[in-house]
Amino acid sequence: MKKIQINSFEDYRQQYQESINNPEEFWGGIAENFNWHKKWDQVLDWNFDEPKVEWFKGARLNITENMLDRHLNTLGDKKAIIWEPNEPGHSPKTYTYQELYDAVCEFANALKSQGVQKGDRVCLYLPMIPQLAIAVLACARIGAIHSVVFAGFSASALADRIQDAEAKMVITSDGLRRGVKEVPLKSVVDEALENCSSVERVIVFSCLNWNIDMQEKRDIWWNDAIRNQAGPCPATSMDAEDMLFILYTSGSTGKPKGVVHSCAGYMVYTAYSFQNVYQYQPEDIYWCTADIGWITGHSYILYGPLLSGATSIMFEGIPTYPDAGRFWEIVAKYKVNQFLTAPTAIRSLMGAGDEHVEKHDLSSLKVIGSVGEPINAEAWHWYHDKVGRGQCAVVDNWWQTETGGIMISGLGNFSPQKPTYAGYPLPGIQPVLLNQDGTEIEEADVEGYLCIKAPWPSILRTTYGDHERCRVTYFSHYKGYYFTGDGAKRDADGMFRIIGRIDDVINVSGHRFGTAEIENAINEHEQVVESAVVGYPHPIKGQSIYAFVVCDDEIPEEEKARIEIKEVVAKQIGKIALPEKIQFVSGLPKTRSGKIMRRILRKVAEGDVSSLGDTSTLLDPAVVDEIVQKAL
Ligand code: WT7
Repeated sequence: MKKIQINSFEDYRQQYQESINNPEEFWGGIAENFNWHKKWDQVLDWNFDEPKVEWFKGARLNITENMLDRHLNTLGDKKAIIWEPNEPGHSPKTYTYQELYDAVCEFANALKSQGVQKGDRVCLYLPMIPQLAIAVLACARIGAIHSVVFAGFSASALADRIQDAEAKMVITSDGLRRGVKEVPLKSVVDEALENCSSVERVIVFSCLNWNIDMQEKRDIWWNDAIRNQAGPCPATSMDAEDMLFILYTSGSTGKPKGVVHSCAGYMVYTAYSFQNVYQYQPEDIYWCTADIGWITGHSYILYGPLLSGATSIMFEGIPTYPDAGRFWEIVAKYKVNQFLTAPTAIRSLMGAGDEHVEKHDLSSLKVIGSVGEPINAEAWHWYHDKVGRGQCAVVDNWWQTETGGIMISGLGNFSPQKPTYAGYPLPGIQPVLLNQDGTEIEEADVEGYLCIKAPWPSILRTTYGDHERCRVTYFSHYKGYYFTGDGAKRDADGMFRIIGRIDDVINVSGHRFGTAEIENAINEHEQVVESAVVGYPHPIKGQSIYAFVVCDDEIPEEEKARIEIKEVVAKQIGKIALPEKIQFVSGLPKTRSGKIMRRILRKVAEGDVSSLGDTSTLLDPAVVDEIVQKAL
């Protein structure tokens, strides 16, 4: 057995070398830390051509036994989850490992009695309440595949995801309250299910005590479903490579894809990366502010921390409710030791004034993390100086839904820090920078395409229902490499700086959207003929969405049309994807072959029209003049 936790930078250097020289021995040793029904016949078998990646081949396990049962003897009374509600006046709720185990078994039994079987897909559309954690683990307990959909997506986006996964069940609540906003989740589900024939049952948790419509035969209240279901639920024995979950994410093409993670590799890597990046110690209180609707919440609120026997805080609310001191109040209240949030939250709280931070005692903090988008120098320094009081390591975690776990980051408080640089690759991770032509860049400080050369345990296995799409998207750009879609550079010490997406993906407040996905939504508006969407820098959100829209007629009232277009986007995707700027144009800049020149639109959106570059290949250069003149 190999110990998981690295404890110095020299140790990191040595572990890294070992992991690269002999990955099978390295990960086999780490995997010995977990409980298995049957050990593996082979640690790793792979090729990036199909692609096919198998870790711990032949092994059998259940991930929830490693998160719950394994800890009961020693940590039964330890807090697993501390839930902090949206309303500061409401009581928090805690679950010890024993209580969480009991709740998960009870709900797993309920799922089985409602007809859910191993391999069935279950869609979770819930607020950040303990029932979401319980439902995720209950699915994993019985080998059902969870697909969590962030509760900010619209009925139409939810329906797409349910249909693609052919989910048999949806678990939701009457509604949610986030800050002062309310969302009627059950009505959204009802609307989505008008077009989803695979769903047989809907389990509804009463979160706000609303009186809602329940469809007889299809809908059942959570509390009715768990009646008489208390007691143990044997954990279903899973093959190492059985699917654990699907999580939908956006890419360059229109339809979101279902990223698939499998049981054993995801387990080993989320626990390993959590314990190393956050240097979690047994008495620590850890808090990640993400939503479980995104991969960060899956890997670093639930799986990684609970596999490690940690105490993980789950927060229902938002950073600015009731005021911009809420995060810091919670840190002080629970004496949080490790804190992880997104740059967009850091920037917005930075703008709210230092008094909100200074009011609270943040001396418990040891490691503070940033995740989801590049963190700019100003936000890094504010986070480091004000929140970390100059005494905490800032760990900048670069990774993706597809990578399952953190790939490049500082480790706790011993790796060197450099603002705007994410840091070093974790053991087992082999990032390279490629030129356009696919050769590896060896020199320092040169920008290239960030790719990964060899598999790590939590790499995605496929995109649900369409393996070819997985191959084309991630493994066909450069033969033998996983293509991340990000541009990056590396300094002379080997530290990586992530520049941002090089494909048609926009990152708004850490939420990922494909330009085509938003364009498709805008084009649903009756008067819209076509549109092109680009991202542009935004001081708080990181990026914002700028839409160039061609309509079939003159638009008499542009403001009205803008509101309507936003409504269409909210309906198709959700309010999280609204374009900030909408410019009506008479045509889009296209090449003779009909390709939209986004480079030009990006420049216009950035307000930098001094150098539009070569426009000679444009079909009609006059449209560019018009676009520039009328730019917002
Ligand atoms: C994309 C992945 C990481 C989990 C949450 C987002 C960007 C993510 C960083 C970072 C710079 C980052 C990349 C990446 N990104 N973390 N620390 N520094 N950029 O997961 O929704 O799959 O998005 O987010 O562009 O490709 P995701």
